[in-house]
Amino acid sequence: MSAQPKQGTDPMAQPPVTVTRLAAMKTAGEKIAMLTCYDASFATLMDNCGVDILLIGDSLGMVVAGYDSTLPVTMEQMLYHTACVARGARRPLVIADMPFGSYQKSPEQAYENAARFLAAGAHMVKLEGGEWLMPTIEFLVRRDIPVCGHIGLTPQSVHALGGYKVQGRGDEAAARLMREASSLENAGVSLLVLEAIPREVGANISKSIKIATIGIGAGPECDGQVLVMHDLLGVYPGRKARFVRNFMEGSDSVQSAFTRYVKAVKEKEFPAAEHCF
Ligand code: KIV
Repeated sequence: MSAQPKQGTDPMAQPPVTVTRLAAMKTAGEKIAMLTCYDASFATLMDNCGVDILLIGDSLGMVVAGYDSTLPVTMEQMLYHTACVARGARRPLVIADMPFGSYQKSPEQAYENAARFLAAGAHMVKLEGGEWLMPTIEFLVRRDIPVCGHIGLTPQSVHALGGYKVQGRGDEAAARLMREASSLENAGVSLLVLEAIPREVGANISKSIKIATIGIGAGPECDGQVLVMHDLLGVYPGRKARFVRNFMEGSDSVQSAFTRYVKAVKEKEFPAAEHCF
């Protein structure tokens, strides 16, 4: 006989994840489990496994389309995958990544493209960048478009950064990241992704701002975690980053791998010390 879920913990019985729910989760110290997702079938499966947030990451350029960076990804590709995921998801918050070149030019350009993502079914858009993005974020938030920030290693800046390198090392760089996090919070972001930064910096940022932080290589003190689905399943043939854990190892199905990921995040077992910088 299969085990019944404990009363109150069945993901299908939970209300949809909203921006207010994310804030309540941070206040309550409940960890947020987020995964990238690119189609309807995986969206339904992740929903059933209790994943809180589905991100249509522009990482799809690398893991789905086979490009060697996220830079060639287009609005049309992102809109197609966003609509697919939105059709498959019921409970999770759906976030669409704005691709390279779709928001950097002006707040007006960002608004026009962000509005297309909300029309396609996203609940929030994600933009990579620090203080220079404040006018754009304020412009979007004033027009009721929820925004997720993304600082640290921002893959769309790979050429400016000189490669996929850990950011925020040393006092000056750490202080700059702290300033950026605070500026983005003041500009109105509802959520902040921190990528590939020292654990201590991730912890300090998470403590110092009121909005929830989502780490990917930023340590267990972040309010939540995100992984690229193909990394979690161990199917991406490219380089494996230190912060990746293959949850298919020890799982007998994809469903079990997603469920184990959610449990490991909620119970603060992932990320472990070996996944941190
Ligand atoms: O594109 C993506 O998948 C991302 C996550 C790695 C945060 O931005």
